[in-house]
Amino acid sequence: MASVMAIYMCCLFLVCLLTSQCVGAGSVAKMCIEVTANLTYNCGELGLNGIPESLPSTTKFLDFSFNFLPDLQNSTFSRLRDLVYLDLTRCEINWVHEDAFQNNDYLSTIVLTGNPLIFIADTAFEGPKALKHLTFTQTGLTSVTFIPTQNLGNLETLHLGSNHLSSIGLPSTFPTHNLKVLDLELNAIHHINKKDVASLKQATNLTLNLKGNNIWDIEDGAFHSMTFQSLNFGGINDVSIVLNGLQNSTIHTLWLGTFQDVDNLDISPAMLQGLCNMSVEVLNLQTHFFSDSAAIFQCFSGLQELDLTHSHWDSLPTGIEGMNQLKKLVLNQNQMDNLCQINAANFPSLTHLYVKGNFQKLDLGNGCLEKLKHLLHLDLSHSQVESVACCSSQLRNLAHLQHLNLSYNDPHSLQAEAFRECPQLELLDFAFTHLHTDASPSPFQNLHLLRVLNLSNCLVETSNPRLLVGLQGLWHLDLSGNSFPSGILPKDNLLQPLASLGVLILSSCGLTALEQQALGSLGKLQYLDLQYNNLTESGLAALSELKGTHLNLAANSIRIIPPGLLKAFSQQSIIDLSHNPLDCTCSNMDFLKWFRENLQKISDPEETTCGNPPPLRGAKLSTVTLSCALSGVGIFFVVFFVLMLIVMFIVIARRYVVRKYQNI
Ligand SMILES: *[C@@H]1O[C@H](CO)[C@@H](O)[C@H](O)[C@H]1NC(C)=O
Ligand SMILES: *[C@@H]1O[C@H](CO)[C@@H](O)[C@H](O)[C@H]1NC(C)=O
Ligand SMILES: *[C@@H]1O[C@H](CO)[C@@H](O)[C@H](O)[C@H]1NC(C)=O
Ligand SMILES: *[C@@H]1O[C@H](CO)[C@@H](O)[C@H](O)[C@H]1NC(C)=O
Ligand SMILES: *[C@@H]1O[C@H](CO)[C@@H](O)[C@H](O)[C@H]1NC(C)=O
Ligand SMILES: *[C@@H]1O[C@H](CO)[C@@H](O)[C@H](O)[C@H]1NC(C)=O
Ligand SMILES: *[C@@H]1O[C@H](CO)[C@@H](O)[C@H](O)[C@H]1NC(C)=O
Ligand SMILES: *[C@@H]1O[C@H](CO)[C@@H](O)[C@H](O)[C@H]1NC(C)=O
Repeated sequence: MASVMAIYMCCLFLVCLLTSQCVGAGSVAKMCIEVTANLTYNCGELGLNGIPESLPSTTKFLDFSFNFLPDLQNSTFSRLRDLVYLDLTRCEINWVHEDAFQNNDYLSTIVLTGNPLIFIADTAFEGPKALKHLTFTQTGLTSVTFIPTQNLGNLETLHLGSNHLSSIGLPSTFPTHNLKVLDLELNAIHHINKKDVASLKQATNLTLNLKGNNIWDIEDGAFHSMTFQSLNFGGINDVSIVLNGLQNSTIHTLWLGTFQDVDNLDISPAMLQGLCNMSVEVLNLQTHFFSDSAAIFQCFSGLQELDLTHSHWDSLPTGIEGMNQLKKLVLNQNQMDNLCQINAANFPSLTHLYVKGNFQKLDLGNGCLEKLKHLLHLDLSHSQVESVACCSSQLRNLAHLQHLNLSYNDPHSLQAEAFRECPQLELLDFAFTHLHTDASPSPFQNLHLLRVLNLSNCLVETSNPRLLVGLQGLWHLDLSGNSFPSGILPKDNLLQPLASLGVLILSSCGLTALEQQALGSLGKLQYLDLQYNNLTESGLAALSELKGTHLNLAANSIRIIPPGLLKAFSQQSIIDLSHNPLDCTCSNMDFLKWFRENLQKISDPEETTCGNPPPLRGAKLSTVTLSCALSGVGIFFVVFFVLMLIVMFIVIARRYVVRKYQNI
């Protein structure tokens, strides 16, 4: 009997462990993380089996994922009357009973992802006045009829991904007039017929996601005169099935891209014929293989944007016609070896061109883009672009170019006035591209409209005071990761011409000191980033030239702040001194006092700690209090010492006098 009892107790204990049922809701409630007081709480992964009493009834946003709530009753959430958002991901929910949310008038989002649902009562979603977002991802659904339709008239998004649905159709009773997003990705939908599509007719401007469904056929005319905001058939093997099925439809964004691990047919012009009889503005065909023929583009003439990322082109065909509408062309991750291989003249209206992450070393060629009179944005980052005398001939005729991204490329030599052809440039990004810029006059001479210049980690010649001449409109300059001779920012530095500068990044520049007047010309500076340098208190006098600046001095070598520097700090708006070896002894007393009185100016006080003396190392500066006045014992010793000195003086003087008179 006893052994049976013992085994029973063991089992009970195991069950407890496995289901976490034994954990009392009240006791763990304290562990819910308060994200915003009285509003937002995160109770995820706490093994709770009920809503903790301690959760305030004013809670609006509740993450209750990864707990244990097998039945949702009308009482489960009744106390939380203000709930707006409720995440119940993986709570092992099987049953959702009548009126489970009856008290939750304001509830607009319910997430039920990953629950093995067995039953949902017809009135389960009664209560909320405007339920807008429902997520049933991975809930084992085999039919949409499982979801009760009562009180879903306001539904805007319905996520049904990763289930076993075989049709896109919604029941005729399903209210779709407000539906904006229907997500059916990764189900088992193989056939699409007229009737199913017709059930979505009320949802104008719908975003329909069918990614990862293996679609075998679409009934002829199924999408006739339907309009969609976006249709996603990602991972489709044969795009012609989709395009033939979409005859006479109007679709803003059509996603027909695929993935690297899917075996796909090469796309031939015939497979794209269907596009000629429908209206599409934005088309994505990423990761496909194409046959090399201008005819591929024959039905693309209505497109405004075309994404051919990673689609194995080493050149685009010549003789493409009728692409006058195309505004944006994405050719990232292809294998062109010369920019001229884009045959840019085929796309005369382009305003945005992206050739990012090219797999070959990309040569900029000579005037390859000169026919793109309207080009505003050009991104050539991560494309192993190299150039010996940049950039007048390379960027010929790009008179309206505003954004140019040449970051993460091979070394460039910039000519004098390198951007003569693009006087409208507003943003230039050269980050992590080594620049050789000994040219005179400055390579940026004519860029009066330039607002943002990223020269981070470019190994620029910082000792050339004329390097940035001409940039009188520059607002944001990133020079991080460039070094200065002897680690000193001199008085006559390259920042002098930048009268409009608002943001200056000088982090990780190996700086040990800023000379007096080094920052004198930067009257509009709002943010100065000097993180990760080797600045000490003696090298910071130049900061007194700034006013109202947000000063970031984190991770330097500052120990003691002398009174002069304290005055400079006082006139700034925000200061970050975290990760400095600050001295917490009486020699830094003025600063420690100032720090406590100016906490509202201090950024990251948690990481602003003492570096000295050793017993205080790591202590937060805001918590340190020193008494630097002399103590009673100290005063006693000082008085004693002074008295001793006087006594000794009298004794010695007396001896001297006595000896002197003895001699007489
Ligand atoms: C939270 O609610 C309590 C009790 O209603 C109230 O005392 C407190 O001020 C509230 N806190 C905030 C940040 O609103
Ligand atoms: C909640 O449901 C139970 C039956 O499950 C019922 O007896 C009770 O009246 C309901 N409470 C409210 C407030 O409707
Ligand atoms: C259609 O939906 C998109 C986003 O889903 C929105 O930006 C657009 O304004 C909508 N168009 C109409 C006509 O409602
Ligand atoms: C497309 O529309 C045209 C004209 O409205 C019609 O002749 C044609 O049959 C339609 N095609 C399909 C597949 O519905
Ligand atoms: C496009 O529609 C026309 C009639 O509207 C039809 O003759 C033609 O075959 C269709 N083309 C394709 C590729 O379906
Ligand atoms: C330039 O490209 C790089 C890499 O693709 C990217 O990280 C950066 O944000 C881009 N710059 C701008 C200003 O968008
Ligand atoms: C360069 O700086 C700009 C402005 O801060 C930023 O938008 C861009 O992302 C930076 N480039 C890189 C490669 O980080
Ligand atoms: C500058 O500081 C870094 C760490 O922040 C250190 O590794 C380096 O040795 C210092 N350089 C000099 C010259 O003090």
